[in-house]
Amino acid sequence: MDYLQRAAKKLDRFGDRDAKILAIETSCDETSCAVVCSGRRVLSNIISSQVEIHKKYGGVVPEIASRKHIELIDYVIEEALREAEVRLNEIDAVAVTHGPGLVGALLVGVSYAKALAFALDVPLVGVHHIEGHIYANYLEKSDLEPPFVCLVASGGHSHLVNVKGYGRYEILGRTRDDAAGEAFDKVARALGLGYPGGPLVEEAARRGNPEAVDFPRTYLEPGSLDFSFSGLKTAVLNHLNVCRQRRETVNTLDVAASFQSAVVQVLSDKTIAAAEKCGARVVALAGGVASNEKLRAVLASRCGERGLRLVYPSKLLCTDNAAMIGCAGYYRLIRGIVSPLTLNAVASMEIDSY
Ligand code: KG4
Ligand code: ZN
Repeated sequence: MDYLQRAAKKLDRFGDRDAKILAIETSCDETSCAVVCSGRRVLSNIISSQVEIHKKYGGVVPEIASRKHIELIDYVIEEALREAEVRLNEIDAVAVTHGPGLVGALLVGVSYAKALAFALDVPLVGVHHIEGHIYANYLEKSDLEPPFVCLVASGGHSHLVNVKGYGRYEILGRTRDDAAGEAFDKVARALGLGYPGGPLVEEAARRGNPEAVDFPRTYLEPGSLDFSFSGLKTAVLNHLNVCRQRRETVNTLDVAASFQSAVVQVLSDKTIAAAEKCGARVVALAGGVASNEKLRAVLASRCGERGLRLVYPSKLLCTDNAAMIGCAGYYRLIRGIVSPLTLNAVASMEIDSY
């Protein structure tokens, strides 16, 4: 029997056991490993952020990210096992993010996961990073079940997804240029606030006037659920240039608040429109931008008015972490899906239904 046949056999009645999945996430600048039991019970979730290293370059340097993952991964995996009080030989399957992301960074996690699955002779499953972000919502809400509409907004993606069932996705809209988090990061850099931009813009915006500058809200064609944030980013840069040319002082707090208000309005308008289009009763948020308090508050109020339930993960689970990958991997495994040991890292890939 070859590896795939043995793995398939081990998946027999996988959902009936307290299956322990070791999950690995290295798609960007967080090296993370988790142990997740029966899909939703997080036994450990170790996240080692490289943010302090990339900060001095104003963004993630892919080559440095890959090297740091190599340096950190052994330690992060050992810590995850130690905290979970689980030995390697008790691991039932290995889940890993295999895309999308920085290919060199992904390769570290994928290679490690393949070696581990081969050595332990347990099933391996590759997980889509965005699918992982969506599944972060299940980890703290034991009653949450599909269907729901999910806004996934991170540094690399802004997607509206109709989650019709486990593994059944319909992409309702996506960004046509910059992702929401990317816009936060670029505006933060232009304002001299630092990196990563989202939390710093949010902090500045708290003390600014959101109506001070009337930045554009881009809705694209009527009925479109796609996003476009590059025009807004350019409008912020133009505003800063005009102020400088006129030798006017820039009110950083007001610009941050006005920018955030424009992003939040478009994200929330389109999320509500998506929920109405699908007849959803539940709206979920995911990804780094889902940490934004303004976005959470505006959507909480707009969902409340319509009798929709709003859910979002705690801030730790909004950022990149391996527990969400373990959860998404579990739902693939219980459907009998297993990846071959030739699994590769893929920089850009569509979220696939199964
Ligand atoms: O999901 P994530 O950790 O990594 C990616 O998959 O990209 O998202 C990181 C992104 C960054 O662009 C960061 O600036 C943004 O999420 N972010 C925020 C906030 N916290 C993180 N954006 C707005 N408000 C926040 N509080
Ligand atoms: Zn992410």
